[in-house]
This record gives sequence, C-alpha cells and structure tokens, in this order.
Amino acid sequence: MTDTPASDKILLDIRNLVVSYAGSGLRAVDGVDLTLTRTKLGLVGESGSGKSTVGRAIMRLLPPSARISADKLLFNGMDLSHASQDDMAKLRGNQIALIMQDPRYSLNPVLTIGKQVAETAILHQGLSGKSAREAARACWSASRSAMSTG
Ligand SMILES: Nc1ncnc2c1ncn2[C@@H]1O[C@H](COP(=O)(O)OP(=O)(O)OP(=O)(O)O)[C@@H](O)[C@H]1O
Ligand SMILES: [Mg+2]
Repeated sequence: MTDTPASDKILLDIRNLVVSYAGSGLRAVDGVDLTLTRTKLGLVGESGSGKSTVGRAIMRLLPPSARISADKLLFNGMDLSHASQDDMAKLRGNQIALIMQDPRYSLNPVLTIGKQVAETAILHQGLSGKSAREAARACWSASRSAMSTG
C-alpha cells in the first residue's frame, strides 16, 4: 500500500446524490457523483440545473421540503448524511463554507467583510478578537495569492 500525498486526499466523495423537493415531482439533482481533492472544482450549469441544491445538500442546509439520498456523502471521511446537527454546526464555517451567489442572503451589509470573517474565526476556532482579525487578514492574503496563481 502506498501513502496518498496530502494534496491527493479525498475531501469530498459523493456518489449518486439525489434531491427532490416535495410537491415538484421532479428530481432537482439526479445522481450526482463528485470526487474532490485539495484542488478547485467548478460546478457549471444553466439556471435551475441544481448547483445550489448540491451545495446546500453538502452543507445539510436544504429546506424541510427537500428529500435527499446518496449512496455516499463523505466529507473528509465523515458521513454527512448521518452527522448530527452539532457535528454539522462544528463543520460549517470551520471546514466547509457556502456563500450563495446573492451576497444579501449570506453577508450582512452593515458589517465589514473583515468583521464577518473574523466572527467566524471567533465562533468556530475560539480565537480572540485580535487573533481573529489576523486570521481574517491571512485569509485575504491566501485568497489573493491563490487567485494570482490561478
Ligand atoms: N426550496 C425549493 N423548493 C422547491 N424547488 C426548489 C427549491 N430550491 C430549488 N428548487 C428547484 O430545484 C431546481 C434546482 O435549483 P437550484 O437553485 O439548485 O439551481 P441552480 O443551478 O443553483 O440555479 P441558479 O444558477 O439559478 O442559481 C430548480 O428546478 C429549482 O426550481
Ligand atoms: Mg444557484
């Protein structure tokens, strides 16, 4: 057996993800397979093709009307289908985050972005205000260099 390099470790492993919304009679997501290592992945599709539904299913943030099933829904080896609400709350904003395309529903317009990123670090990583602000700044630097290297 050979060791898997850290960059090749599977972060998300999804098999046959199906989501339907009560009353629609249609599958919003029908049999999605997805494997993600520590790389970038883009989901592309026309409006209504189910991109946000996939994201919300991973975050377990689908509305109560949604029915979800999957042969496999693993994040870092953890079975998200059976994770408790407590486990999901620890994961969200710490290891997984979702910002929907309409920032009005994700970000508070009366607070700076820095404050909102720092708040996540305070809540999920137990950092003090000062360390959280430093962590937020480190995030910007990391995302800036990620963008400039493509
Ligand atoms: N809460 C909901 N209740 C019922 N149907 C929904 C709900 N949310 C999404 N849908 C339906 O599920 C399907 C997939 O929608 P979804 O929002 O996931 O698509 P999308 O690819 O993110 O679209 P867009 O590019 O417009 O954001 C669509 O047919 C949509 O109408
Ligand atoms: Mg969407």
